[in-house]
Amino acid sequence: MAGRIPQSFIDDLLSRVDVVEVIERYVPLKKTGANFKACCPFHGEKTPSFTVSQTKQFYHCFGCGVHGTAISFLMEFDHMHFVDAVEYLADRAGLTVPRDAIPEVSQTQKSLYDALHQSSVFFQQQLRSTTEAVDYLKRRGISGETAKTFQLGFAPAAWHALSAAIDASESLLITGGMLVRNDSGKTHDRFRNRVMFPIRDRRGREIGFGGRVMDKGEPKYLNSPETPLFQKGRELYGLYELRRSHRSSPGRIIVVEGYMDVIALAQADIPNSVATLGTATSKEQITLLFRETEEIVFCFDGDNAGKKAARRALESALGSLKSGRDARFMFLPDGEDPDSIVSKHGRDYFLNAIDTESMEASAFMFRELESEAGIGPGTAGAGQRARLAELCRPLIEQIPAGVYRDLVVGQLEEKVGATVSIEEPTEKQRRQRASPAPRKNTANGQSPVRRALAVLLNNPSIALDVDPELYEFSDNVRGAELLMHIVGMIELNPEISTSRIIEQFRDKPEWQALNRLAQEGLEEATDAELEAPLSIFEHAIRQINQESSKLKLKNDYAMEKPPSQMSASEKEELRKRLDALKNK
Ligand code: UTP
Ligand code: MN
Repeated sequence: MAGRIPQSFIDDLLSRVDVVEVIERYVPLKKTGANFKACCPFHGEKTPSFTVSQTKQFYHCFGCGVHGTAISFLMEFDHMHFVDAVEYLADRAGLTVPRDAIPEVSQTQKSLYDALHQSSVFFQQQLRSTTEAVDYLKRRGISGETAKTFQLGFAPAAWHALSAAIDASESLLITGGMLVRNDSGKTHDRFRNRVMFPIRDRRGREIGFGGRVMDKGEPKYLNSPETPLFQKGRELYGLYELRRSHRSSPGRIIVVEGYMDVIALAQADIPNSVATLGTATSKEQITLLFRETEEIVFCFDGDNAGKKAARRALESALGSLKSGRDARFMFLPDGEDPDSIVSKHGRDYFLNAIDTESMEASAFMFRELESEAGIGPGTAGAGQRARLAELCRPLIEQIPAGVYRDLVVGQLEEKVGATVSIEEPTEKQRRQRASPAPRKNTANGQSPVRRALAVLLNNPSIALDVDPELYEFSDNVRGAELLMHIVGMIELNPEISTSRIIEQFRDKPEWQALNRLAQEGLEEATDAELEAPLSIFEHAIRQINQESSKLKLKNDYAMEKPPSQMSASEKEELRKRLDALKNK
């Protein structure tokens, strides 16, 4: 496995690549003023609103909102993976892509993997000698072969069986979730008298377990806690086994709720399912799945809990949807699960049900939101239709701009009977997505930090023209730390371009927000802004400075005494000192 591409290389690469040349190979560009223009290759249009800036090394479409660096363009337009895009550009620039050494797995991690592997081997041995457990699995229709594929096991009904059987320290077993320490400080096995389901990561290493009682005990399933090796939102039960049973693409992947569903489906010759581990489907899990397949089918209970789970899954999936991909939803009759369906009706019945009864993500979204908007058969007044549009907008906005989103918007417009504009996320959404980055201050337009960032990203060198003393504020203002981080980058490298700054944040939470801010500068700026970026930046920095001092002063006072307990004269004094800052 290759290591990561060092960020410094990507930065270097972008300093040698010209986004105009890269895009020109795909789309003929025409120079207009300072920028290059074309009809947008990402959406249909007759007048060019796709703009490429050579100085910023950044593109943006005023029509559909796509934007990004040379790397983003190759990823979006030519569907390259990040690494391929970097390699393609490096090749053109005559560079070889260096790789970081693969990070060493720490000794503790190694021992943890080893302890869990030993545990799994022990449980499998125990299963072979425990008739009761073997009978239980047989009753549930599980063959020896399937049990082997999933490495099913059994934890004996004893308090110290595992710890005695394997070679691992007590503290390691506690960290790995296999031992529990009770209030009096004594330890015992976590899993006792349970059929054991090892949970393996994508590479087949045991990272946790689920254990099921064989009778009516509670809880029915006991699971490993989150440990350094096991984070429930990042793993999918059965993904390793699924990957092993398909040499190439597995075709559609069915997401189910339970361990036994995955196993029963595999037993029924449907080795295509994974289960979430008792948690809502996360974006990370969706990303993992779309690496393996183009089609995901969520298969949930038809009850309220199942619908809720489906809503969460939908919300996690929207950001990954695009042409060629499909996320479908399937609801089972009350009281049934995939295990019970294939047991009763068999493989073909189940597969046929998916083909005929599952709904596309957009159909599921409309069904849910129509009922929320009060739209029933034959009842769709203007008010309800408007409400539907409002409910859909924040969800549709999460779908990446492109043909797929346009189609969903088209469906919505047909239902609503009017055009619905979904060009850019609402301000509220921008804020949510950009959470670590500065908010827009609704009272008087953009917050100073946002304004400073937007001007700076588009004119990096102005960072060097400001009196350095002005930067001496503390990080108590939202976003100030990010701003100063970028100022620091520019100070180290005065020639840096917008795209090189942005590209350093690709894997970071600030990525989205910075992209949007950089693109704001490409939109029609007023003349004053174009002519005076430095004075706008400097003014914003002064405001941040003031804001920071104010917060600090208030904080100092509050440390002494909460405002509610201040006397009238103390409040007056604070107010005066705050006013004095304004005139600084
Ligand atoms: P279900 O109760 O639907 O289990 O829980 P199931 O898979 O149908 O189990 P069987 O068929 O009775 O053996 C679905 C999933 O929810 C989690 C497990 O991951 C389970 O597979 N769960 C359920 C728990 O973690 N603990 C519980 O007590 C119950
Ligand atoms: Mn079940």
